[in-house]
Formats: sequence, C-alpha cells, structure tokens
Amino acid sequence: MSLSPDIITALKNRLVETINATTDEQSLEALRVIALGKKGEVSDLMKNLGKMSADDKKTYGPLLNSLKQDIAVAIEDKKQILADLALEARLEIEHLDITLPCYPAPKGGIHPVSQVTNEVIDIFADLGFKLAEGPEIESEDYNFTKLNIPENHPARQMHDTFYFPKQDNGTRPLLRTHTSPVQVRTMLNEKPPIRIIAPGKTYRCDSDMTHTPMFHQIEGLVIEENINLGHLRYTLEYFCKKFFEIDNIELRFRPSFFPFTEPSMEVDVRCDRSKDVLKIGTGNDWLEILGSGMVHPNVLENCGLDPKQVQGFAFGMGIDRLAMLKYGMPDLRAFFDADNRWLSHYNFNPIAA
Ligand code: PHE
Repeated sequence: MSLSPDIITALKNRLVETINATTDEQSLEALRVIALGKKGEVSDLMKNLGKMSADDKKTYGPLLNSLKQDIAVAIEDKKQILADLALEARLEIEHLDITLPCYPAPKGGIHPVSQVTNEVIDIFADLGFKLAEGPEIESEDYNFTKLNIPENHPARQMHDTFYFPKQDNGTRPLLRTHTSPVQVRTMLNEKPPIRIIAPGKTYRCDSDMTHTPMFHQIEGLVIEENINLGHLRYTLEYFCKKFFEIDNIELRFRPSFFPFTEPSMEVDVRCDRSKDVLKIGTGNDWLEILGSGMVHPNVLENCGLDPKQVQGFAFGMGIDRLAMLKYGMPDLRAFFDADNRWLSHYNFNPIAA
C-alpha cells in the first residue's frame, strides 16, 4: 500500500468516529485492539516506516506517531465518558434521599463493631476491668520501643505500618498498629493494681477478605502482685464462655511469639468446619481468636515498674474478627463500605441491645 497523509487522516477520522459512537466499555476495548493492538490498523501503517527513505521517514514518522497518540487520547476520553455515565446510572438507581424525615419510624441501628465492642467491655467490666483509651496517632516509642521492639528489630517489619513524615524533632508519628500502646500509657500513668480493657481503631497496610487497612482491636492488661498464667487462663476462658454463650467451650493455648510478652500464647477455640457454617464449641478443628502472654519484664521496666514486685498478663484480639465469627459475616470489607443494605441486614436494634 502506498502511504499518503490523506490515508492517515482518513484512518484517523474513521477511527475517531467509531470510538465516539461506541456505547459500552467492552466494544471500546475491542476497538482499542483493532486500532492500536500489535496487529491493529495503526500498527499496520507503522510497519511502512521500516521500508521508507530517510526523507519520507521524516514526514511520516511524526504523522504516524501523532495518529497513534490521537487515537489513544480519543479512547481514554471515551472511556472516561462511559465510566461517568455508568456511575450516573448507578447513582440514579441507588440514590438515597437524605431529606426524608426519619420521624416517626427511626431506622438507625448499632453497627456490629460497636455491638461486639460493648459486649466484650461488659464481660470484662464484670471482672473489674475498667475502660482505657489512647490516641490513634502514636509515637514509635509507645507503639514499638517501650513494648520491647527496638528500632531495626525484625518484629517491627511484622507490622505494615502507616508512618507520617518525620517531624522537625526527628520523631516519626504513626497510625498505631495495635492497641498495645494503651498498655504503655496506662502503666506510665497509673499505679498497680491495674485492670484495663482498651478497645479502638488500629491500622495496618493490608486489604483482603479478612483484612482491612483500618480495623478494631481490644486489649486487656492486668498488673498486680503475684499474677501468673493461671489468672490469664481463667480470665480468657471466662470471657470466651460468656462471649460465645457456650458453657463447654474448649480453648487451646499455643506457644507463640510477641516481643512484649514472655511466654506468649495464641489462643484457639475448638470448632467444626465440616459443614457450610462454622460451629464453635464442638468439632475437630481449631480457630485462632487472640494473642496473649505474661507481660515481658523489659516492658514493665520500660514503663517504670519493678518486675520483681509486680507481674501481669495481657491479651489482644480483633473485634471485627470476633463479630464475623459470632454473627457469621463472611467478608470483613463489607463492614466499612457503609452500604445501607448490609447495615440494615446486620445491625442491631438499639432498644434490644
Ligand atoms: N498486640 C498484639 C497484636 O496486635 C496482640 C497481643 C496483645 C498479644 C497483648 C499479646 C498481648 O497482634
């Protein structure tokens, strides 16, 4: 085929016209392959360049390049238009009229995360634990160093941390990766005996069916004289019985590692996964529900306590995960989508709660 500027313009006009006439993303993608794909029409013309004289190349090189670019731009523009239209259509169907008055039939409910947080706090309140809170923006010192995770310790990498930029004074604030810094704050500010339960938002750079970048943990801490593993075990067994509302619940304490506890244990509950639904309390499977251990002497010392005088235990668990288990919700991400359909299906009645 002999190439001429007219052929290039004609091809461009024809392609742009077809692109503009497409009405859905699939046809647009098919068109992109026909036009710009390896064996596409534009690439076909490009192949002529190889056989051209130097002079012709000077004329046709830029022409063909701008043809390729113009078509790519036309496709991108059209893609945006189609995406906007699709969004508009969706908003049209899913729109929410926030001007409607909610009186006389309020539809609000308690989110499962709030519900489960309250359930856990109530159970520990019966055991004499008081509520403690801490900020979501923490220092590296409280989130890591005082918890026996020094700088450059591999355990820091176990947490995919969101850091803020370095401050003028050299510190690097972060979004807390667990609720354990509340332990540090409490030990620094209060004298034993200490019994606290600390719920709150925590953050790690992670997202799939069972992880979201923001999630909720609840932390327990007991510091007194003569505290031992038996107290830890009794407390957690008491909690699980009450929380899952099963009297013969069986727990398994598995040796594990957390830098701030020694010994450290992960706790599993006996469960049955043989059918579609997960059943807790019976069966031949185990399901991990929390991390725990005796507070490491270094942590006590870092927080101004004498490990020879007082000991303690601590535990931490994911509230969202507990909610998924207790109420059979399959996908964690849905918790935070704020989709009214999900909320009205799973939320709790504020009067009954
Ligand atoms: N902070 C730990 C975590 O986020 C959980 C934990 C808390 C473990 C307290 C032991 C004691 O994984």
